[in-house]
Amino acid sequence: DAHVGNELTQVLYTPEDLSARLKEVSAEIDQEYKDKDLLLVGVLSGAVMVMADLSRALTIHCEMDWMAISSYGSGTQSSGVVRILKDLNTDIADRHVLIVEDIIDTGLTLSYLVSNLRSRGPASLEIMTMFRKPEAAKSDVDVRWVGFDIPNEFVVGYGLDYDGRYRNLTSVGTLSPHIYS
Ligand code: PRP
Ligand code: MN
Ligand code: MG
Repeated sequence: DAHVGNELTQVLYTPEDLSARLKEVSAEIDQEYKDKDLLLVGVLSGAVMVMADLSRALTIHCEMDWMAISSYGSGTQSSGVVRILKDLNTDIADRHVLIVEDIIDTGLTLSYLVSNLRSRGPASLEIMTMFRKPEAAKSDVDVRWVGFDIPNEFVVGYGLDYDGRYRNLTSVGTLSPHIYS
């Protein structure tokens, strides 16, 4: 990987690690929703990679919809200010909704999203996130499926960006401090 040693100090997860874990998680989701009509809600833009891979790892039918909400702007710290940039196209009343996220950092984004979506009366509402930083939590979010718990370091790749870049890295790694300091 050309980014390692320059922009990434360390690779935490290879594409093989990511797909192996998604295979395990998708088997549980298959089981949970086998008799239900599943709507996956991806949070743009970070969740595009996990949505693409998780949805294709499932063997059950599902629909997909997207919300764009942003709290970060261009910094590396969450502002806690959440804005809806694009709402769902789907009415989720009485639907089984699974939110798909790339990462839970402070939890502020998902706390907001969960209360917002819950007010629309879904039949069920669960969360799947590829990554979670337990040490960074500022808000308690009830997460049903977590790919990996990771240390409180700034990571990029597989949808995770710094200032809009690095989302398309196939591995996930820690960003060299010289990039953002
Ligand atoms: C990132 C990430 C999560 C959120 C997590 O999104 O994709 O959605 O932050 O942070 P939190 O738990 O501290 O709220 P971001 O707002 O950077 O937008 P993006 O997905 O377009 O990168
Ligand atoms: Mn995001
Ligand atoms: Mg971001």
